[in-house]
Amino acid sequence: KRHLISAADLTRDDAVLILDTAEEMARVADRPIKKLPTLRGRTVCNLFFEDSTRTRISFEAAEKRLSADVINFAAKGSSVSKGESLKDTAQTLEAMGVDAVVIRHGASGAPYRLANSGWIDAPVINAGDGTHQHPTQALLDAFTMRRRLIGPDAGLGQDLAGRRITLVGDVLHSRVARSNVDLLHTLGAEVTLVAPPTLVPVGVETWPCEVSYDLDSVLPKSDAVMMLRVQRERMNAAFFPTEREYSRRYGLDGERMARMPEHALVMHPGPMVRGMEITAEVADSDRCTVIEQVANGVSVRMAVLYLLLGGNEPAVAHPSPAAT
Ligand code: CP
Repeated sequence: KRHLISAADLTRDDAVLILDTAEEMARVADRPIKKLPTLRGRTVCNLFFEDSTRTRISFEAAEKRLSADVINFAAKGSSVSKGESLKDTAQTLEAMGVDAVVIRHGASGAPYRLANSGWIDAPVINAGDGTHQHPTQALLDAFTMRRRLIGPDAGLGQDLAGRRITLVGDVLHSRVARSNVDLLHTLGAEVTLVAPPTLVPVGVETWPCEVSYDLDSVLPKSDAVMMLRVQRERMNAAFFPTEREYSRRYGLDGERMARMPEHALVMHPGPMVRGMEITAEVADSDRCTVIEQVANGVSVRMAVLYLLLGGNEPAVAHPSPAAT
């Protein structure tokens, strides 16, 4: 594949190949020298039209660990503020010899448009577009689940068949939820969404998952519970129950966490709104993988960049069959 736009575009084999390659990348991160020469001489541009902490820094770290030259572009402070279009911005980057573009954009569909417009030749990686997709987030979440629920070595070549994953919160505005539902379904997991009725998207009945409004009944049957951020910036007040009502019915606190099976994970893509969807007690508990998810994101993004740009070069000095 030339681009990574949507988790729905990945087959089971594509996804398992990325997860297996990411395991190899994670082993490199444990070495004293974390850098690989794989993308030496290649230039990757991180094109961020919307704010980001984790994704932007994680892509930059991944690119640098693969020895790529990195150009960081933030719309704030650029000529976008003077009215320059996505097309002209992209063609400006293309003229500077960019080999791949990582793009985050507030408009759903912007990465697809860039990849299929003919404006640029470079592979495009979606780093989150509007409420649509965030495929590398779903991949790093699946990587974290596979590592924790199966194991780094035992997990190689495996999917998440039969694992019960619950996503809780503002599904309506969540590209993370959409990407996770698509990828987890492809990997054989059973997904349940729990949300206030006003934050469930129209047409959810066509998604490959169950929907519940009762968090307490779903928690004991979950292998992982992913809390979603309430995206105030994308909603109008009418959508939303009061904060207190939301926390009471859909927030994860210590008492609720105790209803989960002992092995079950608490996940969050970040940024977290502590006190709203998750209490500090839960966010800081040993069961919460939020920091691990961030660390795993670098390995997963290295794998994606390597598979899109690395050609037939081995990923690391001792590649497994999955990475060749
Ligand atoms: N999870 C995530 O996409 O976080 P950022 O918005 O900080 O990149």
